[in-house]
Amino acid sequence: MRKVIIAGNWKMNHAPSKALAFAEELKSFGKIPEAVVAMLFPPFVDLYPLREALGDTGVILGSQTMSAEDPGAFTGEISWDMLEDMEVKTVLIGHSERRAFYHENNAVITRKLRTALAHGFTPVLCVGENEEERKEGRARTKVAGQLHRVLKDLEPEEIKRVMVAYEPIWAIGTGQNATSHDAQEMAETIRQWCREIFGEELAEEIHILYGGSVKPQNVEEYLSQTDVDGVLVGGASLVAKDYWTLIEKGGHYGA
Ligand code: PGA
Repeated sequence: MRKVIIAGNWKMNHAPSKALAFAEELKSFGKIPEAVVAMLFPPFVDLYPLREALGDTGVILGSQTMSAEDPGAFTGEISWDMLEDMEVKTVLIGHSERRAFYHENNAVITRKLRTALAHGFTPVLCVGENEEERKEGRARTKVAGQLHRVLKDLEPEEIKRVMVAYEPIWAIGTGQNATSHDAQEMAETIRQWCREIFGEELAEEIHILYGGSVKPQNVEEYLSQTDVDGVLVGGASLVAKDYWTLIEKGGHYGA
């Protein structure tokens, strides 16, 4: 059985002072259950102070993106070695907001993923369809296409380290969450795709998350699905109490 991943994506929220207050409150709730891997993807500026503040809580800090390039003349970017220096070894790649607002296409995303893997990071690759694609019955083809473009040439030891987050674009930040049936169906499609390309054993190992308007009230609907191994949560991860409730509920699932 796979562990349950409860991942919070803060996006462009929580300046360092707020991040520190969040960490203090989170610590007051207690220990993270064994069955849960808790992750947080805060803004870059929060990574270092949060690492100090979260100490040995076990919360894994990740970056919301990363440059595909080695350190050098790339104004405004963050490199793998800066993250590594802060002991951050997990990175979101291809979030739909990066794809939409910063023109990250599958070619850019593939390069970022390769840089991440080459330096021992755990990449969390985000995939998902938009509303029109869902309505026209093209959701699965869209997601399979994204996987194919970005992951198909990876080596077995590389794919093992990748997590896939299925985030339908129409469900992100809208309060209009996908049904657990839709989430399971797509998670199953993703696992099946992995099975076909990488074989049964690797397909069973890979973690598949659902994201899009997940909150404490609906998280269990997703975690109870066979192929959904965790959640990637935006809005609800900003409130320490809500993030903690997600973690607590996650403790009832997973290995
Ligand atoms: P949301 O965001 O939970 O606020 O919908 C999810 C995400 O973008 O990762």
